[in-house]
Parts: sequence; C-alpha cells; structure tokens
Amino acid sequence: MQTCANATTVAFAGLEARRVEVQVQMTGGTPGIVIVGLGDKAVSESRERVRAAFASIGLAIPAGRLVVNLAPADLPKEGTHYDLPIALSMMAAIGALPRDALDGVVCFGEVGLDGALAPAPGALPAAMAAHSMDAAFICPEACGAEAAWAGGEVIAAPSLLALVNHFRGGAALKSPERGDLVSGAAVPDLRDVRGQEQAKRALEIAAAGAHNILFVGPPGAGKSMLAQRLPGLLPPLSSEELLEVSMLHSVAGLLERGRLTRTRPFRAPHHSASMAALVGGGLRAKPGEISLAHQGVLFLDELPEFSSQALDALRQPLESGQVLIARANHHVTYPARILLAAAMNPCRCGGGPGAGACRRGPRCAIEYQSRLSGPLLDRIDIQLDVPPVTAADLTLPPPVEGTAEAATRVTRARDAQASRGAGLNAALDLESLERLAVPDAPGAALLAKAAESLALSARAYHRTLKVARTIADLDGSEAVRRIHIAEALSLKRQWASADQGSFAKVS
Ligand SMILES: Nc1ncnc2c1ncn2[C@@H]1O[C@H](COP(=O)(O)OP(=O)(O)OP(=O)(O)O)[C@@H](O)[C@H]1O
Ligand SMILES: [Mg+2]
Ligand SMILES: [Zn+2]
Repeated sequence: MQTCANATTVAFAGLEARRVEVQVQMTGGTPGIVIVGLGDKAVSESRERVRAAFASIGLAIPAGRLVVNLAPADLPKEGTHYDLPIALSMMAAIGALPRDALDGVVCFGEVGLDGALAPAPGALPAAMAAHSMDAAFICPEACGAEAAWAGGEVIAAPSLLALVNHFRGGAALKSPERGDLVSGAAVPDLRDVRGQEQAKRALEIAAAGAHNILFVGPPGAGKSMLAQRLPGLLPPLSSEELLEVSMLHSVAGLLERGRLTRTRPFRAPHHSASMAALVGGGLRAKPGEISLAHQGVLFLDELPEFSSQALDALRQPLESGQVLIARANHHVTYPARILLAAAMNPCRCGGGPGAGACRRGPRCAIEYQSRLSGPLLDRIDIQLDVPPVTAADLTLPPPVEGTAEAATRVTRARDAQASRGAGLNAALDLESLERLAVPDAPGAALLAKAAESLALSARAYHRTLKVARTIADLDGSEAVRRIHIAEALSLKRQWASADQGSFAKVS
C-alpha cells in the first residue's frame, strides 16, 4: 500500500499566494491524525471535518498514525481552504485516488462534514497563483466562477465524491464559466444635488487630481449626498486595476458568484468601526475598509467621531498607498491607494456660523475640530465649507449638468496628467510639482500675497499649487494661471483656532 502522498495548495501573505505542499505520511503507532506546519485553529480543526467527510462517503481511514505536514513549516497557514488538499492527499495516501491525480494541480477549498465542498476566501489570487505555476486549480463549485477569471484550467467540484469520480474516469467535471462583469451598484447622479455649486465643483476637482476632500457644514447641507457621488466622477477601473481590486475583495470573501465590476469601490465605514475593520487585521489579517476602497473612495462621515487611534492609522496608508498589518512574528501588506472623502459638522452639536448657529460659542467648534490632527489635515488637499441648503435651492429646476458631463472633464484632466508621466497631481512630489505647476506671473503674485496674509504653511502652499494644477488641467490649460490659483485658494478652509475665536472663510 502507498503510504505517502502530496498535494499542493497556497498560503496567503497579503495578496500574494505562496506555494504550500501538503505531505501525508501513514506510519504505525498510536492511531490518530496529526497536522503540523504552523497552521491556525481553522487548520487544526480541518482534521475533524475531513474525518467526518470520509465517514460520510464511506471511506475508511486505516488504523495507524497519519501525519500531515504543511511545508514550508515556517510559513503561517490560516483559513479553511487547507481542508481540500488535506483530504485529497489523504485519499491518495490510502489509495482512494489514482497515484498521479494530484500531480500538477493546486487544491483549495473547505470540506463540509457531509463531504460537500464549501467556498473559502481568496479563490481568485489562489487560482492566479496556480495558473502561474502552470497547474490546474481544483476548488469548490461555488468558487468556480471566480477562479475562472485567472485564466488557467479550473476544476470546480460540488463534493469530494464528485472529485473521486472525476479522477477515476467516471463523470468528468466541466470547467466553470467565469463570473459576469457587471456594472456596480448604481452610483447616484450629481444632478440630484440642488445648489451647492462650489461643493460640486470641488468634487470634480478632487476626482480629476485624486485630491482628498473634506466637507464641513451643518446637518442636512448635503455633505453625505455629495460624497456618494464621487465614485461616479472617476473613470472606470482599468483591467489591471480591476484584477487587483477583485483580488482584495476575494481575500475578504466579498466576490459574490465571481462577479467583477469596473465601477470603483465606495466604502463608508461607520465611525464606530474597529481599527481592524478599518485598516485591516484581526484573526486572519483580512484587508480592512481602506484596502477594500483601493482604487476607489473611502468615505468617512462625521470624521472627528472616529477614534484618534483610527485616524492616526490612516496617515501612513494615505501617504504610501498601502497598509502594513503587524502580526505575531511577521507582517502583511495590502494595497490601499484611496481617494479619501470626509464630512463633518463644524461643531459637536452640529451648528455652524449663521442660521442655526451653535449656542455653546466658538469653544465648541475649537474642541471638536481639534480632534483632527495637523498631519491628517495635511493630507487633505481640499477642505471646504458647505453652507446650509436653502429652500430656494431646493426648488430650483434640476441642473443641466450631471455626473456624465463632469466625468468627461475629469477624464480629460486625467489624460493631461498621464501625458506628463508624473502621476496624478495629488501624488506629485515636490520636485515634479515645482517643475509642472509653475504659476504665471500674476498667479505667482497672488499666491505669494495669499501665503503671507493667510500665513500658509509650506505644506498648505504646496497643496494649493497641486489643486491649482488640477484646476488648470480641467481648464485644458498647460499654464497655471491666476484664476486657477484663485480658485484653489477658495477651496481652502480656515480652521477655527483658539486665538481667532471664530472661523473665517478665505476666498
Ligand atoms: N443640495 C441638496 N439638494 C437636494 N437635496 C438635498 C440637498 N442637501 C440636502 N438634501 C436632502 O437632505 C438629505 C440630507 O442630506 P445629507 O445627508 O447629505 O446631509 P449631510 O450634510 O450629510 O447632513 P449630516 O450632517 O446630518 O450628516 C438628503 O438625503 C437630501 O434628500
Ligand atoms: Mg451626512
Ligand atoms: Zn456646538
């Protein structure tokens, strides 16, 4: 009797799926199944699921000791997808599968007590890894549509029994079709927003240059409404971006029926969300909201209500476009290139200047706004007051322009940025900024004057230049002119400060 067998599967390190060999050896000695090789709890519980599944399909596990080794032994293994490679290698070891059945295949999936195969997160990156190893990918039927996107050979089976039949030359399993490319959840149209012309224009600028944006205004001004319309202004995902975004959603277990969408993600976690939910981590180092929003929009409503710990954790990914999640003895990175949209009331009780003003006085606003750290605000290029919406605004006829028209201009502005080859304006480094956003003489004069009268910090100065560069791109202008600088300055909110006592809008 054959007493040794191998199956190949993968372990995830972020989005990367690394090759893992599952080695089974039957020896004499105390009966039982032992799994070694740095598996987590789900991996050790695999033993019970596989044992029950064998019993339910009438496979006897021979008396004796069965050692299952997951190699390389120093790579952490997390998740339930090891069930299938463990089950299949055991079957091969006891002769229930042909000797060569597991050659050149990667196995992936959870096994139920009744022998049915259940989906596990990460099928897409796992199938892509299999494809790059020139191996076929064996997975649960429910993962087939997702795995098929990888472009390699996929065998998707409903159950262990179906796989046995397949390998023994009985009923061969058909390759699954890839899931549909669907249009995402309908993105609401900018045309629904009455008035708020400056805020709408700011959204267009944010989309064009990938500038993070913060709306500050009283309740009901339409801040949330505006932010939800941001993804509609962004160009659809390119094929490369689509794959990367889908892999992240696959690892998070969010790709339903293998459906992919070119609509950019929009994620809006509640301010009570945990750190792990926001930036990633937790039991299996899953991607957090910031990675699920990769290449799309992360919307943080009521920004100051997020914990200071959570807001601090955002800084590094906003800078680098990826998150680093520390684990016990290693770390995991996920991409997190996001457009941050945020909204807040001017003070805790919601009021702002003017109608419905806060009765607690300026201290209220100062305290509330001080929850946002300077380094965080430094990463938000556009900070804008949104005034209350008036009854007159609401009775206006719908604006003639909506999302489609604005998105066309955004695409043109992005094309202009692409042709300069230095990336999107928000991400320009100092050297590129000074080379590509030189204002003309009147623009430079205005900027210098504003820098002095508003006491702009160096960072605020550069943010203004970046935004002005984007405004010029929307305008189809290679030169950054005075009107572009002026508009960029109008998108800079002056924050309440203790010595100032109230907020002044700068224009
Ligand atoms: N400019 C607007 N045009 C049309 N409807 C609006 C406008 N502003 C607000 N509304 C209406 O008011 C509702 C509330 O708006 P929204 O939730 O965006 O306000 P908000 O500024 O986010 O308020 P809060 O500070 O309470 O979160 C919207 O669902 C919409 O029906
Ligand atoms: Mg809101
Ligand atoms: Zn207040």
